[in-house]
Amino acid sequence: MSKMIQFFDTTLRDGEQTIGVNFSIEDKIMLAQKIADWGADVIEAGFPVASENDFNAVRRIGQEVTNCNVIGLARCVKKDIDAVIKALTDAPHGQIHVFIATSPIHRESKLHMTQEQVIEKIQACVSYARQHFDHVEFSPEDATRTEWNFLVKAVRTAIAAGAEVINIPDTTGYTNPDEFGALFDYLKKNIPEFDRVTFSVHCHNDLGMATANALESIRHGATRIEGTINGIGERAGNTALEEVAAAMYVRHDFYQAENHVDLKKTYELAKLVSQKAKMPLPHNKPITGTNVFSHESGIHQDGFLKNHATYEILTPQSVGVAHSSIPLGKLSGSHAVAVKLAEIGYQVTKADMK
Ligand code: KIV
Ligand code: ZN
Repeated sequence: MSKMIQFFDTTLRDGEQTIGVNFSIEDKIMLAQKIADWGADVIEAGFPVASENDFNAVRRIGQEVTNCNVIGLARCVKKDIDAVIKALTDAPHGQIHVFIATSPIHRESKLHMTQEQVIEKIQACVSYARQHFDHVEFSPEDATRTEWNFLVKAVRTAIAAGAEVINIPDTTGYTNPDEFGALFDYLKKNIPEFDRVTFSVHCHNDLGMATANALESIRHGATRIEGTINGIGERAGNTALEEVAAAMYVRHDFYQAENHVDLKKTYELAKLVSQKAKMPLPHNKPITGTNVFSHESGIHQDGFLKNHATYEILTPQSVGVAHSSIPLGKLSGSHAVAVKLAEIGYQVTKADMK
């Protein structure tokens, strides 16, 4: 049976952590509305404790974008949680996302905390957040470099304290699809509450595997995917949500899962985020780059003209691109040249084409 996958968009939080990206509050509200209309189930609107601007953006998005859940980020720190409570107090669908790092390198070098101290913090901050929100998401930051048995302990503590969503972040883009799948199988086997909560993933793209890792997690029990539009985000960025949506559509036979995304709105949304982030879409960006529906070489152009599906696994229209193109280049063949000539009014015979 097909399952429903929630899309959690963090373009306005992790996406804004991209060097050089600064969205104004008005842009954030406009983008949040477009992302909600695209079909995201949850929008992470910001990190309210970080600045007055972030606080105001989360507050206004929580009040004004009402067709989607709006979540605010907090460290496992009381003042962070209080800032989210204050920002989302009037929001009709406000939620909170609390995180603390669990990996040895983060515990020892960043937090200077023992495993026991981290567990105590999780217990205290998740239960405090739960007193104020019906929906609490918890993330053990750097989960994929955490000892697996300690990760189980951290996750079970968060569930017992009231978290209904457990997010497994691949904070440094370190894992790969096989290993991530195995980690999920281990969590499923060792967490008796696994089916009672929603498991989410948040993948970074340091080794170019963020989309692949996110997709693999669907096959191992995750039902929420976190990411950004165009894959923007800290360092090499996050899972590009439009890539996940397109892969789920093209390979529905494989993933057997549904989502609420209106794929036809993808290209317009990608262009808008690119413009507001002042980050041009790379020509070869999967799904939305300008080369994705263009065919340059003679063999490809000939095959495409005979049957578009020879070289296109999804139609441009399905993601909101007007049409494919066959630009004439150094490797173009006579079939494409004849088509171009016909377009401008010349019917050329095969002999003349030679
Ligand atoms: O990459 C990460 O671990 C994060 C957390 C806050 C979920 O962004
Ligand atoms: Zn992140």
